[in-house]
Amino acid sequence: MIAGNRAINYLRISVTDRCNFRCKYCVPSSPFKVIEHDKIARYEEILRITRLACDLGITKVRITGGEPFVRKGIFSFLEKLCRIDTLKDVSITTNGALLNRKKIRMLMDMGIRRLNFSLDTLDPSKFARITGRDRFNKVWDAIQTAHTMGISPIKINAVALRGVNDDEIRAIAGLTLKYPFHIRFIEYMPMGDSDVEKQQQILTREIQERITETLGPLEPVKLEKNDGPAKKFKLDGAEGILGFITPVSSHFCSECNRLRLTSRGTIRPCLLKNYETDILTPLRDGADDLALKQIIESALTQKPLFHDLGSRTPKDLPISHMTSIGG
Ligand code: 5AD
Ligand code: SF4
Repeated sequence: MIAGNRAINYLRISVTDRCNFRCKYCVPSSPFKVIEHDKIARYEEILRITRLACDLGITKVRITGGEPFVRKGIFSFLEKLCRIDTLKDVSITTNGALLNRKKIRMLMDMGIRRLNFSLDTLDPSKFARITGRDRFNKVWDAIQTAHTMGISPIKINAVALRGVNDDEIRAIAGLTLKYPFHIRFIEYMPMGDSDVEKQQQILTREIQERITETLGPLEPVKLEKNDGPAKKFKLDGAEGILGFITPVSSHFCSECNRLRLTSRGTIRPCLLKNYETDILTPLRDGADDLALKQIIESALTQKPLFHDLGSRTPKDLPISHMTSIGG
């Protein structure tokens, strides 16, 4: 599939909007409703849409949530997903709290080798404040276990927030000196009524300055084909890689090669625009494969060449929350 001059080969599938965590920057501060079960795409429906998307050129899939491992039956779904012939790469974004050795073994047996964890702090009490859950040790154990079992690369996403975890930027970045992890700092995106103030956002340039002041220069790492939007660097002598994801300070839409399938069964060409195309309703109404493929392709024509997150005020911003879109 082609949009603009980009070949779209990457599909992010959100399997649930539910999460066992309540991260400040992700979950709305006011009461919110989760999506009713019958409005969530069933596994067979997701598999059908994915197979069709693969016929159209998708070769990589990332499973996201909410938290994917809170959904019942996720392992047998993943097994079926991994059996799609044309799919070369399946990876998962998780908070890690529900993973253990046995489950990681099951993932590896299916051929899954890549996991992204979310971890914003190395301090257990701060972890509890950010996520609303006292689970630092569980998550850190899961990351270590995945590492010793051979999951590679392990990517760790950290959202740096002023007055929350900015005193740990150095410590978090410093993990790359010891471990072959890809640590990615993501600029906080105001996505609606979260507890985080705009002033707490720290842009990449400042994060990089804080790292170089204490840990030395950042050497650029060449991007490989199919790399995501992270700009990659290495500290001198490091095992791992530092990445910076800049949705706010620098547009990367024109290079974006991904498409999203939300848990409500809509195709969302861009995280930051509220355009979505419903594919679940036509599928439930009996649309054939050809018609469904046309829906996927037409959703793509809405894929923007740029967004304007950097220039808008939070009030005007898209109101969808990460948990329902899947990050
Ligand atoms: N801004 C930036 N990143 C976010 N994430 C969730 N909400 C936000 C936000 N408002 C990221 C987390 C997590 C991934 C699923 O999405 O870092 O790792
Ligand atoms: Fe859950 Fe991830 Fe959102 Fe945290 S960032 S609430 S772990 S979906």
